[in-house]
Amino acid sequence: MDQAESLRQMLAERHSAPVRVIATTSGKGGVGKTNISSNLAVLAAKSGKRVLIVDADLGLANVEIIYGITPKYHLGDLLDGKVTMEEVLATGPGGIRVLPAGSGVSSLTQLDDAQKLRLMTGLDAVEDAFDVVIIDTGAGIGENVRFFVGGAQEALLVVTPEPTSLTDAYASVKVLSLEAGVEHFNVIVNPCATEAIARDIFEKLCTVTRRFLKAKLKYIGFVPRDENLHRAVMAQKPLVELFPQSPASRALATIGAKLFDEPAPVQNAGGLKFLWQRILRESPVAAG
Ligand SMILES: Nc1ncnc2c1ncn2[C@@H]1O[C@H](COP(=O)(O)OP(=O)(O)OP(=O)(O)O)[C@@H](O)[C@H]1O
Ligand SMILES: [Mg+2]
Repeated sequence: MDQAESLRQMLAERHSAPVRVIATTSGKGGVGKTNISSNLAVLAAKSGKRVLIVDADLGLANVEIIYGITPKYHLGDLLDGKVTMEEVLATGPGGIRVLPAGSGVSSLTQLDDAQKLRLMTGLDAVEDAFDVVIIDTGAGIGENVRFFVGGAQEALLVVTPEPTSLTDAYASVKVLSLEAGVEHFNVIVNPCATEAIARDIFEKLCTVTRRFLKAKLKYIGFVPRDENLHRAVMAQKPLVELFPQSPASRALATIGAKLFDEPAPVQNAGGLKFLWQRILRESPVAAG
């Protein structure tokens, strides 16, 4: 086989590999979802994956701040027909593409037909360009969050070690599995001092979940409290780039390897667009 032929074959295989869509979620807000997902995205990009991060978070330390970028457009501009998907996507560290979706969109479940079409056409245009899509949702499980999470096959569930956090995490697994159809939850405990504590929390969550829900939980690690995280946010640079040897960076590297190097729990044959089609069909068409 000559070089050109093997390259063609490699590219063909690459394009046939289904895109993996992972949404972050947590029972309560402010538990580190955005910091974890934006740094995991950087690690995935470093390992050669083509990454899209959907910033669906209106919080203060959102993906844009963590990456130190100022996107020109947001999802609302695409829905209004002002720009194409390619124009909406900003570029972050390591060539990560960022879809700013947290602002300018009041209700994604109330899109009119023209907006749905623009969203679908936009997703269609870029879906071959990515191996991994990470959706960083804001606090709570409001309708826009459900919309985005419903387009994912898996969740990244961030749980804190406090007892109340377990109840909140269970509630979020329940809503997302029953109402958004998410079956697989990758659980991260943050901040957490030791592996033993993290595993104990994970087991407790599994016990209640197993009893009432079909959702499948997988332990993928813990992140220790690390003040460098705050320093990195202030510097508007990803922690894993600014302080690659800090405790949280090392923990995130272990998590990243577990998340991205192991086979995906589900194969998404239909691609990115397919995931949202279901939601868009189900959501009521807004008048006008
Ligand atoms: N392991 C950690 N060590 C130190 N600080 C942390 C850690 N994890 C999170 N934090 C801090 O907690 C705060 C909230 O983090 P982040 O914004 O990532 O949470 P979030 O879950 O995305 O919040 P929201 O629900 O508002 O979107 C940040 O100030 C961050 O620096
Ligand atoms: Mg956030």
